[in-house]
Amino acid sequence: AKPVTQTAARPVPTLPDAQEVTEVQHYTDRLFRFRTKRPQSLRFRSGEFVMIGLMGDNGKPLLRAYSIASPSWDDELEFYSIKVPEGPLTSKLQHIAPGDQIILRPKPVGTLVHDALLPGKRLWLFATGTGFAPFASIIRDPETYERFEEVIVTHTCRDVAELTYSREMIEGLKEDDLMRELLGDGIDRLRYYPTTTREESPKMGRITTLIESGELFRDLGVPPLDPAADRGMVCGSLAFNLDIKALLEGAGLREGANSEPGEFVIEKAFVG
Ligand code: A2P
Repeated sequence: AKPVTQTAARPVPTLPDAQEVTEVQHYTDRLFRFRTKRPQSLRFRSGEFVMIGLMGDNGKPLLRAYSIASPSWDDELEFYSIKVPEGPLTSKLQHIAPGDQIILRPKPVGTLVHDALLPGKRLWLFATGTGFAPFASIIRDPETYERFEEVIVTHTCRDVAELTYSREMIEGLKEDDLMRELLGDGIDRLRYYPTTTREESPKMGRITTLIESGELFRDLGVPPLDPAADRGMVCGSLAFNLDIKALLEGAGLREGANSEPGEFVIEKAFVG
């Protein structure tokens, strides 16, 4: 054992499971995205979440569940977060800058994964607010397009500015060389259906209302939900998840899990 006197001279220990922040982008006063280095040993399935956070004032880690928004092939990790002024974590996390460290527990889990869905023709990704985060991973994963002929992302937010992250990502994917190579002429197999509820935009209304009225299907020119063809992943607030679940079950789709794949899967958007 080393002499005790040497411990005092050691550098200040870094955080447990520390990861360096590489990029931060703020969208609105409520939303931002950031990227971190990825632990080499971290393997995850697109759509899963991990616990991340900062050291609290009491010296204990302050951790929350965050969906990984980057695809599993990416060298870095990306996260999409709300900023809550009084939120224990996000009130601090919103001030991180490149070079800072966050805590990242490398144990990914979650149900918004391909393994929990039975094969199908069309994948619906229903998100509200920061619930888009896991889908940012799913839509950048080549496996998604191997499994499904068509992928439709619906994203409902209060305001137009809150759609920026999803809109820019999907526009970017359609211009992306790797995606074009992957999808070729089928680049339009990835479709985007953004709606707002509190600010004027080309398509207004809660997605639940648009499903009930059939407007969603008419707008996209696809048949109504059918358990033989359609699969769903749902991520938003608790109330949203319950409402969508009722609609999907009403159409005959059954909820799946890792242990028993089904026709749709649900997870609550965590922080908020
Ligand atoms: P609304 O403005 O009508 O409440 P939030 O920012 O509160 O998490 O909400 C994000 C988006 O999700 C908002 O556009 C909100 O619409 C919508 N939303 C909230 N609850 C539901 C629900 N139960 N069903 C459908 N959409 C919902």
